[in-house]
Formats: sequence, structure tokens, C-alpha cells
Amino acid sequence: MADTLTITDNRTGQTYEVPITDGTINAIDLRKIRVDDGDFGLMSYDPSYKNTAACRSAITFIDGDLGILRYRGYPIEQLAEQSQYLEVAYLLLYGELPTSSQYEQWVHDVTHHTYVHESLKRGMDGYRYDSHPMGRLIALLATLSTFYDDAKQVHDRKNRREHIVKIIAKMPTLAAWAYRHSLGRPYVYPDNDLGYAGNFLSMLFKLAEPKYKPHPVLERALDVLFILHADHEQNCSTSAARAVGSSEADPYVSLAAAAAALYGPLHGGANEAVLRMLTKIGDLKAVPEFISSVKKGESLLMGFGHRVYKNYDPRAKVIKRLADEVFHVTGRNPLLDIALELETIALNDDYFVKRKLYPNVDFYSGLIYQAMGFPVEMFPVLFAIPRASGWLAQWQEMLEDPEQKIARPRQIYTGHNERPYVPMNKRG
Ligand SMILES: CC(C)(COP(=O)(O)OP(=O)(O)OC[C@H]1O[C@@H](n2cnc3c(N)ncnc32)[C@H](O)[C@@H]1OP(=O)(O)O)[C@@H](O)C(=O)NCCC(=O)NCCS
Repeated sequence: MADTLTITDNRTGQTYEVPITDGTINAIDLRKIRVDDGDFGLMSYDPSYKNTAACRSAITFIDGDLGILRYRGYPIEQLAEQSQYLEVAYLLLYGELPTSSQYEQWVHDVTHHTYVHESLKRGMDGYRYDSHPMGRLIALLATLSTFYDDAKQVHDRKNRREHIVKIIAKMPTLAAWAYRHSLGRPYVYPDNDLGYAGNFLSMLFKLAEPKYKPHPVLERALDVLFILHADHEQNCSTSAARAVGSSEADPYVSLAAAAAALYGPLHGGANEAVLRMLTKIGDLKAVPEFISSVKKGESLLMGFGHRVYKNYDPRAKVIKRLADEVFHVTGRNPLLDIALELETIALNDDYFVKRKLYPNVDFYSGLIYQAMGFPVEMFPVLFAIPRASGWLAQWQEMLEDPEQKIARPRQIYTGHNERPYVPMNKRG
């Protein structure tokens, strides 16, 4: 049997043979299917890219039906159990787990680029204290571009590495300062004695104590959450990073675009939406009424459903376990009971079962963040910090892929045919 697809165009009676590679046909092969010489050629129509592979990627593998997620071949459960976030970031970016000397150098480099230019601090002060920290993070990421003109040399590997290190290093600083600005607290400078997650906690929560000591359980929990959020193949924000980066824009603005995509409630804003939903439900007794409003299409059960996972999101399983460890330290989040009840009902209700709607990563992560003392506005910011390594890995892969050009989808034009301009005094 040949790995080809035979297509008969019933408009002309012509038959075409199109190669099948890796379970896909190349969309450009459809172009040769034409009615006559003046015909542009056949296109495929795929709004929201439901069935279109836009790249080849060796970074993250997801099997949505089986609930599998692997970074560079390593199961997410094993990484969450045994590795550290910076090790995972290195793995995503460079394809292999680092050796101990590579890791030492990598941690050293990231740790020594956590400071940001002082004018960025003044830039932060320009925002209203009650503005959303994610809006500020997006803006400041883009602003970083103005400090590093050489970041435009996107095809220079060495240069790229320098800016990758800078971005991964500075994300927690910007994020923590966005939070401190909301509270009117002085910014805390990075502490090089602490690890990546520990230093972030210090920049967030340090007050008058001379040295901030992160709670080891909370520090580890945050690091695991960072691992779970580091990459998720071609989602909305990653596609934004790739699309913007494909114009050879620098990594800072490419990541600002990705962060903007992540801000939306259907993507990285979902955990914030989950918390708001749980707070609004407010009481266990109100759960059945809420479920019936979801089934009537009046609202969404936030934190449920996924474009790719049609099974339990493997990250949600790890997070559910993590929640127990965190609540042991912080005390139980009272909204947990409502979440558990929603999950129990939904997993047994025909509406959700038939549509394969299961808890996704956001269903429990917000409860952990809240218990750790984060306000809901910080949730998408917490998502963006580790996702930066995934965005950068995907951005870098795109730049090194000879098959990739500037992203430019086609359209089906549905507007008017040509018509003559009508002067204003003649318009109806
Ligand atoms: C993630 C999401 C955007 C994926 O959307 P999608 O792949 O386009 O799936 P669809 O919107 O086509 O959903 C398919 C069906 O399930 C329903 N559905 C999907 N998610 C739902 C939810 N969270 N609550 C209730 N119904 C839901 C849709 O209404 C649709 O029903 P229909 O067939 O009767 O029209 C969607 O599930 C959603 O909005 N979830 C809530 C937000 C969220 O948690 N996002 C975080 C993702 S990590």
C-alpha cells in the first residue's frame, strides 16, 4: 500500500495523488487541484487550527485521548517528581537533561541575570496600583526589548542564548515587582543565595526580615507548578510566540505577544476564572444549581475541558496531590470542597462525560495559589513565568527550522466584489 492519498476532483473528473508523511498531507499539495489555469488552486479551511499541523516539533508530546504529556520524551509525572524547574527549562530549550556541569553553569547564568534596569522599576511605578499585574507584565516584557537592541540578531545562536537566559532570569523579578506595586510595598531585589522559586517567593513576600527563608514545602510546590506549566506544544500563546517571532521580531516582543495571548480567560486566565467561579458558587448546596446552569449553556464550568485532552489532564492529577501537601502547611482552602463536589458531579454527569470534559491544569492550581497567599490577579502571571521557557524553546525551534517562513494564513474572502466609491453626499 502506498503512503498516498488519491483525490478525485468531481468538478473536473481529474485525479491527483498526494503523499502522506507523518499522518499528514502537505496543504500546498492541494494547490495543484484547479478547475482551470486561472484558478488559484484548492485550499484547506481550518478556522482555529483544529486539524492543521503548523510545524514539526521535537519538544512536547501530548496524547489527548490517553492523557499523556511528555517533555522531550520524559513523562511529566517523572519530571514533576524528580526534577527542578530550571533543569526542565534547560531540557526544553536544548533537548537533553543537563549534565551536572551544564546545570551548574545554567543555574549560575540564570541566577546572575535576575536584576532589571532601574528605569524599568520607574516604569512600573507609572501604572495604577489597581491595574492588572498581567497587563503590566506584558508591557514590561515588551519594554525589555528597548534595553537590548542586539536581541534583534535572532539567527545568532550565542546571542540568542544570552537573551534566553536574561528572559528566564528576569521573569520572576518583573512578576514579583508587579505584585509589590499593587500592594504599594517596596520592591525586593533578587537574592542569589536562593533557588529560582525561593528567590521569587522572597521578592514577593519579604518584609523587614534581613533574610527571607522560603518554606521548603511551598518552595518545592511552586517549583513543581513551574515544571507543569513549562510547555504545552502548539497552544494559543505558543502559536503567538511562533507567529510574531517568524517575522524575526526579537524574543522580548515575541514573548510579550505570547503573554498577551495567555492573558485571555480561555487560556492562562482560566485558573483566575475558576477561583472567581468557586467564590461565586460560595456554598456546597449551590453546586447542583450551578451545574444545571452550565448544562443549559448559561455558563462554563471553568477549569474543565481542553482542546487537546479528552481525558483527565495529567497535570491536574499531579496538582491535586500537590494541593494536599500545600494545604498541610497553609491550612485547607475552603473552596476545595466546592471544587471536589463539582468534579464528582461532572465526572458522573452525561453532559460532561459525552463531551469528554475533564478537569484541566487550571482546575486546582488556583486553589493552591490562593492558599499560598497569591491574589487571583497574579494567577496568569504565575503561569507566564515558567511558560517563558516553553515559548523560548518553541521560538528557537521555529527559527532553526528551514521549513518555516513568516506566518501568513490564507483567507476565504466573503466581502463585496469591486464597487465604485460613493461620495458622502450621495450615500443613503
Ligand atoms: C478549553 C476550551 C476553550 C476548549 O474548547 P474547544 O476545544 O473549542 O471545545 P468546544 O468549545 O468546542 O466544546 C465542545 C463542547 O463542550 C462544551 N464545553 C466545553 N468546555 C466546557 C466547559 N468548561 N463547561 C461547559 N461546557 C463546555 C461546549 O459548549 C461544546 O458543547 P456543544 O457540543 O453542545 O456545543 C473549553 O473547553 C473551555 O472554554 N473551557 C473552560 C475554560 C478553561 O478551563 N480553559 C483552560 C484550558 S487549559
